Amino acid sequence: MKSNYYDKDVLSYIDNSIILHPLFEQWYEIVEEILLNDEFQKRKIFPHHHKLSVWDHSILVSFRSFLMARIFNADIRVCAIAGLLHDFYPWSWVYTEELELLDDGKYLVEVRTKHSLFKMHGFTHAKAAAENYVKYFPELENPKITNAIKRHMFPLNIIPPRYKEGFIVTTIDKINSVHELPSPSVIPGKIKESFNKGAIVQFFKKDRVK
Ligand SMILES: [Fe+2]
Ligand SMILES: [Fe+2]
Repeated sequence: MKSNYYDKDVLSYIDNSIILHPLFEQWYEIVEEILLNDEFQKRKIFPHHHKLSVWDHSILVSFRSFLMARIFNADIRVCAIAGLLHDFYPWSWVYTEELELLDDGKYLVEVRTKHSLFKMHGFTHAKAAAENYVKYFPELENPKITNAIKRHMFPLNIIPPRYKEGFIVTTIDKINSVHELPSPSVIPGKIKESFNKGAIVQFFKKDRVK
């Protein structure tokens, strides 16, 4: 089975609240090339937090960082691009059957690898994304974009961003990630579900292969 993640009609995969925003066209002009890219479109099927994909999350972080850049007189292009590519790491940290079938399962290498704590996704993906964006978008390479992507996991990764654009992206990323979590009322059910699936037990066994 071939995954049909790719679609030239990018607008069908962007939330209406963004499309209807008066500044949408200005943002879209900056990021269109990335959104049409085959490798980036695969992020539609990479799970992120809760029910969002990496595609959905990255678009939200990009658009909101772009808006915040206007308020703080920062570089809107840098914020839009770094926001979109900040989680462009070359793997998925969650298993899905669809990813198993995509390109011989190569995106599941992280799920299948046992790591010590500091080599786990949360600690390593920012640097990996900073390298991966240069691989797929060499023409976009720019020290401010690279630094914003590489440092977006501050303070988990202890070195802070060097430029204000990086502070904007990391702040928006955190605000979004909190909003993307399930509501507190469903968290006990989620924990119970995890125990039932043996996920937590597997985690402590350092066996995260599904
Ligand atoms: Fe991230
Ligand atoms: Fe993120």
